[in-house]
Amino acid sequence: QVFRLEDYRPSDYLIPETKLTFRLSPDQTVVIAELTIERRAGVDRGAALVLDGDGLMLRGIAIDGRQLAASDYGATPDRLIISNPPSEPRFKLTLETEIAPSKNQALMGLYRSNRVYCTQCEAEGFRRITYFLDRPDILSVYTVRIEADREEAPLLLSNGNLAESGDLGDGRHYAIWHDPFPKPSYLFALVAGNLGVIRDSFVTASGRDVELGIYVEHGKERLAAYAMDALKRSMRWDEEVFGLEYDLDVFNIVAVSDFNMGAMENKGLNVFNDKYVLADEETATDADFANIEAIIAHEYFHNWTGNRITCRDWFQLCLKEGLTVYRDHEFSADQRSRAVKRISEVRTLRAHQFPEDQGPLAHPVRPRRYREINNFYTATVYEKGSEVVRMIRTILGPKLFRKGMDLYFERHDGEAATIEDFLKVFEDVSDRDLSQFALWYHQAGTPNLTVTTSHNPATAEFTLEIEQSVPPTPSESRKRLMHIPLAFGLVGPDGKDLAYGGAEGASVENGVIHIRKRRHVVRFSGVSERPAVSLNRGFSAPITLSVEQRPEDQFFLARHDSDAFSRWQAFNTLLSEALIAAFRNKLGGKEPEFSEGLAELAGTIAGDEALEHAFRALALTLPGEADIAREISANIDPDAVFAGREALTATIAKANRDQFSALYRQLDGKGPFSPDAASAGRRALRNVLLDYLSALDGSAALAAAHFTGATNMTDRAAALTALAHRHPGSAEAREALAAFERKYRADPLVMDKWFQIQAATPGHGTVDAVRALMKHPGFSMTNPNRVRSLVGTFVSANQTGFHRPDGAGYQLFVETVLAVEKRNPQVAARLATALRSWRSLEPGRQAKAREALLSISSTPNLSADLRDIVERTLA
Ligand code: ARG
Ligand code: ZN
Repeated sequence: QVFRLEDYRPSDYLIPETKLTFRLSPDQTVVIAELTIERRAGVDRGAALVLDGDGLMLRGIAIDGRQLAASDYGATPDRLIISNPPSEPRFKLTLETEIAPSKNQALMGLYRSNRVYCTQCEAEGFRRITYFLDRPDILSVYTVRIEADREEAPLLLSNGNLAESGDLGDGRHYAIWHDPFPKPSYLFALVAGNLGVIRDSFVTASGRDVELGIYVEHGKERLAAYAMDALKRSMRWDEEVFGLEYDLDVFNIVAVSDFNMGAMENKGLNVFNDKYVLADEETATDADFANIEAIIAHEYFHNWTGNRITCRDWFQLCLKEGLTVYRDHEFSADQRSRAVKRISEVRTLRAHQFPEDQGPLAHPVRPRRYREINNFYTATVYEKGSEVVRMIRTILGPKLFRKGMDLYFERHDGEAATIEDFLKVFEDVSDRDLSQFALWYHQAGTPNLTVTTSHNPATAEFTLEIEQSVPPTPSESRKRLMHIPLAFGLVGPDGKDLAYGGAEGASVENGVIHIRKRRHVVRFSGVSERPAVSLNRGFSAPITLSVEQRPEDQFFLARHDSDAFSRWQAFNTLLSEALIAAFRNKLGGKEPEFSEGLAELAGTIAGDEALEHAFRALALTLPGEADIAREISANIDPDAVFAGREALTATIAKANRDQFSALYRQLDGKGPFSPDAASAGRRALRNVLLDYLSALDGSAALAAAHFTGATNMTDRAAALTALAHRHPGSAEAREALAAFERKYRADPLVMDKWFQIQAATPGHGTVDAVRALMKHPGFSMTNPNRVRSLVGTFVSANQTGFHRPDGAGYQLFVETVLAVEKRNPQVAARLATALRSWRSLEPGRQAKAREALLSISSTPNLSADLRDIVERTLA
């Protein structure tokens, strides 16, 4: 079944009130739903009432207290139809369903993980609990009564505020929760179990006392301290930056160990994958701390962007996700280093969204059709969606942007809104026409700008000829021209931006060129000396860019651009060009050669005390193999890409050996651990240097010493990676892997790192290593984190291993996807996207990849989730 945006129509009935009673038991949970049903004004009396279900068993049904006869309704696991509902405008429908949480391995709806009952309802999981109008424009006020064994589940949580609790005798007890804010069913949540808790409190700007709780497995309370701190900082930040306050008396977060995604913003009761809550220096890396901070903030920020204002339908998913990602990006930028954060965001976007946009799974930020909505929680909706919001801010400026956001909350609070509503507030506050800009939501594909530069000293004119193109994507062969805000600077010989007289050929305001046509010739007057042009500063638009200017300009910008992002970009472009040349050499049977200037510049950047450690670390991180492959775009031999990257690493390491060693020693941090950005940056630079030094002969001892001397997980994991990847099979590597396993075997989240590092080990042997690790007692095919760490890492972060020329990697991929799919279609479908760029491989691998995809698609009884991904990938 295909769902289309243009088919949206409001439902005939509303459900203003929902009362739920849960009698929890692992195999036979009874759910009683009392729904207040209201016929929408203008709808015919007696219009059929059709409710969504998914795998349900109906045990009872009544209207206004009267049992219905079998002829009054039709119930299948997936649908409940009442063909002649009462003609009164309002009536009460009571439904009793029975479900088995312990048998629910899809982890959607109500399930039981690790003896804890919990729910995941977004996008369409609520219909696995009871029959309902399970769509986001049905807003209802929920009252939830939970009954359970006191011993099994002393803790009973749902959305909103606790209204009542008490004993039921027989070892059972109950709690009643009431959420005064009308919400869509996807935000419903229930948690019951025996968990530990850390508590804190927060006073909002207007004086509301909020009780905060983070629930975790007993004994892990201490590991939630950082998440709690991040939560309080998020709450304060949203007040200060957006003027948004929390609106209930309690805010609870529960960490569970079996979870399909990162986390979920259920009203007042966020549920998290435990890997995004639990952290201390012994078990979590700096990247883990940063992720926890970002995801805690993301889910909290959803309270306004997602919950108070929700989505009219699932086509509008980016309305809440793109906007909320934008907000969490800004939060992290304010908490940490803005420049470093921006570079990391762009790297993520390029690594995840660009391949999506440039392959068979491309779709607009606001899709127009889907078969399975779960497959649209994508980098395009989330990350590109965030970039679109950022561009609105760039175009309007900070003041009008904030004014537009204020108007959005004022105008749409309590509603289920659309992208059109969102754009309209910015048009209204700015008097701008954003209709061309709106194409960013409607049109898939990464736009490209080609730029040539020229300078005329006689007339003191500097000219940019800019041409835009938007490549075709599946089912959108003809593209319209976009409005691209291109931030820029003309960098003079002293590194400062040149002032210019005037600009013509495009509208240029506040350092931004507004590209709206196919071709612009932008002339800057009063530019007597030839500048180096710095384009797309701060990554003002999510595009690709090819700029033709003097080769020395790129080196110059890498040393002198005042925009930190562009400075990083300039050096990264140089590295990327060198790696592409190395790849071509390799295919031509030649050894790669690199310019001396490049290695020298790497040395300069490494030692530049004016630059933040974290910035230097990012600059020295070579483009990944997948990044290089994406730039090359066709006929990829991953082994040749890998060889070129190894050669450049070794060249830079050799040329800077003494300096890198000295700096490495100097960065050795003493004193207590702190997860703050500056300390993390220092560790990042030291660990990047370790990686370079590990490319030199005889360096295993250095990494081994780094491993044994490590006093935190960041350093320990970096050392283990250096050993496993740069000295695979060495005694040092084997010893370190064994020591790590001995130390952490009882801690699944830490063992995930151990699986990851081994799964990412380059080379043709890794597929067998992964197969062996799948038999490790710490591995489990039912836990999404385990599957993603081992198999997910292998298929998405190991180019040489996964794309082994004989297809052995693809074979493992097929087997695992199909095995996971039986229990958990969502996780399987996500895993299956690993082959989305199969068409850019060289012909041999391409044929084998295609066979693998075909063998999945010809498997009988595929889930809708997996079928959708595989068929689109092959199309
Ligand atoms: N809304 C959640 C978040 O972004 C993610 C839910 C993902 N749901 C899904 N069906 N994949 O925070
Ligand atoms: Zn989200």
